[in-house]
Amino acid sequence: MIIKSVKLVNFRNHSEYNLECTDETSLILGENGCGKTSVLEAIYILTQGKSFRAVDAEILKRGEDFYRVEIEFNNGEKNVVTYDGKEKNFVIIDKKFKRLPKKNRYPVVLFLPSDLNLISSSPSRRRDYFDLVFGQFDGRYNDALLKYNKALKQRNELLKSENLRPGDVFSWNMLLARYGCEIAKFRLEFVDEINKKLTEVYRSIAENDDKVELLLETQVEGVTEAQYLKQLEAEFTRDSYLGHTGFGVHRDDFVFYLNDKVAEGSASRGEMRSIILALKFIEADLVYQKTGLKPVVLLDDVFSELDASRRKCLVQNFKGNQVIITSVEKV
Ligand SMILES: Nc1ncnc2c1ncn2[C@@H]1O[C@H](COP(=O)(O)OP(=O)(O)O)[C@@H](O)[C@H]1O
Ligand SMILES: [Mg+2]
Repeated sequence: MIIKSVKLVNFRNHSEYNLECTDETSLILGENGCGKTSVLEAIYILTQGKSFRAVDAEILKRGEDFYRVEIEFNNGEKNVVTYDGKEKNFVIIDKKFKRLPKKNRYPVVLFLPSDLNLISSSPSRRRDYFDLVFGQFDGRYNDALLKYNKALKQRNELLKSENLRPGDVFSWNMLLARYGCEIAKFRLEFVDEINKKLTEVYRSIAENDDKVELLLETQVEGVTEAQYLKQLEAEFTRDSYLGHTGFGVHRDDFVFYLNDKVAEGSASRGEMRSIILALKFIEADLVYQKTGLKPVVLLDDVFSELDASRRKCLVQNFKGNQVIITSVEKV
């Protein structure tokens, strides 16, 4: 599907803003702070269901009491989201929903300038990053993650209370074990799929013979649900002293290797950028493979961060996709 137009009302700094898109590349040009990323954010909300950077109260234009975004696709379908300060509603082909229904989500590959630093950022940033990507690979990943995070929050809250007994957290342990195992399985599978392409795609960008690998660092590999549960129970005393849960997939990390060495700290800035570019291309590929839908590519200000040869790679690789680019300078 192709996005034909996007209309924003009271969204961030925009009172009213319309973008007409082309099938191929659309460019949003403007100074810093003029609201370019906000347009991508609006598209993201109507394709993914929520923003990649904020909650609705922050998005609503200051001093206004509602926002509205409308996207029209090339098949004539129109999706709308409104927020009135309290309630958010999606209107999809004249039907109202509190959340964007799964079947009305459309895959996007989002490329933010901060993604270029993914390799040297924190484990939690990397987990968030891959959670968004994997959620687009398979909706069941999102479901498991949501349930896991809810159970984790509840367990951690209980862990802070006085005179807690091991049995008090049992039901949360059960849920963590169940969804934790499911998440680990998905993560291992998806990392494996990325690895099948990573070196080859990287070489096509860097034009050398280097080897790149992504590794999931986890305490949970090969752990059964029963073992997971047992481990949570074994660590109960420690957890209750610390007030949080030490074991589980929320501690996972995604580590990149260049020529068998951890890329963080050893790879150059240029090499890290090429790795991320490769990752984006593979993301787009895998999303298409898994959903049958060509993702819309949202490139936020990344052109200015890349040299000529990497820019060229970016353009060539996303030739078959609809691409929406923001930039301060003409590209
Ligand atoms: N809720 C809001 N109401 C009004 N202005 C906002 C709101 N949120 C952010 N802004 C402003 O909107 C501008 C647009 O931000 P952004 O889309 O990130 O711009 P760009 O990507 O073009 O640099 C910023 O100057 C920011 O201060
Ligand atoms: Mg921006």
